[in-house]
Amino acid sequence: MTRLYLPMPGNETMAETLAAQAGDALGALETRRFPDEECYVRLLNDVSGMDVDIVCTLARPDPQFLSLIYAAETARELGAKSVSLIAPYLAYMRQDKRFKQGEAISSVHFARLISQAFDSLVTVDPHLHRRRDLGEIFSIPTRVEHAAPLLADWIRDNVANPLVIGPDAESEQWVAAVAKRAGAPHIVSNKTRLGDRSVVIEIPDFAQWRDRRPVLIDDIASSGRTMIETARKLAESGMQKPYCLAVHALFAESSFAELSSLAEQVVSTDCVPHASNAISVAPLLWGPAQDGG
Ligand code: R5P
Repeated sequence: MTRLYLPMPGNETMAETLAAQAGDALGALETRRFPDEECYVRLLNDVSGMDVDIVCTLARPDPQFLSLIYAAETARELGAKSVSLIAPYLAYMRQDKRFKQGEAISSVHFARLISQAFDSLVTVDPHLHRRRDLGEIFSIPTRVEHAAPLLADWIRDNVANPLVIGPDAESEQWVAAVAKRAGAPHIVSNKTRLGDRSVVIEIPDFAQWRDRRPVLIDDIASSGRTMIETARKLAESGMQKPYCLAVHALFAESSFAELSSLAEQVVSTDCVPHASNAISVAPLLWGPAQDGG
């Protein structure tokens, strides 16, 4: 075996699945905090001559980021042939513009840090706004996988008579593709974001779909407000409780509990480990990263 999947803490299940699926080796790290909270990292495998794929989803990245960089640097120093990052969720992609004087464009800085430490990157549905692809900000080969077909298949297999509802006009193409594969009609809401935790949702006329089960889909549930406000609007209009599907289940603060009280079921992929995980992206992730972005 020449490939080793090495999980950062919290990513063991995904790394085990990838190693088993690919017939490759599974590695292990020892990590801890010194009393002053600095981090300690030790690789427990011989990585010399190996292609090392570090598995680390990057939800809530700040507390784990330095350990991740130390693991990558150590693998390289100890003779790894290549050091790649498998990050099913890629953080810091949203702030891609300086809206106010002096703001950090964190997507660019984060991409630069990752590109310095790794030879390649594999991820799922990065939350790009104004960028067309990852190649604009990463200087290493990247491979982007898409969870839309997995969401569509879950809807087809689990929801009778669905109506797929997307969060905003920008999501129309993506939502249409999911709905088509699921064999369902679709509509998209109008969303106005007023702040990090505040959105106003208007749902277009859906009188003709009243008998259908609403299925809200989104690439990310972050503050959760988009899905919560949409589910509220549906409840006010007497629709059945929606299924709520997200690729990346970040669900800050108490948003998951709030959404669960309004939903038939909240479902997510395992890009971010979460109680709502029901769809595995592992089949998308193994194998080498390629240029593409
Ligand atoms: C919008 O651009 C995205 O597709 C999501 O709708 C949005 O990021 C969700 O964020 P939140 O959960 O904070 O409303």
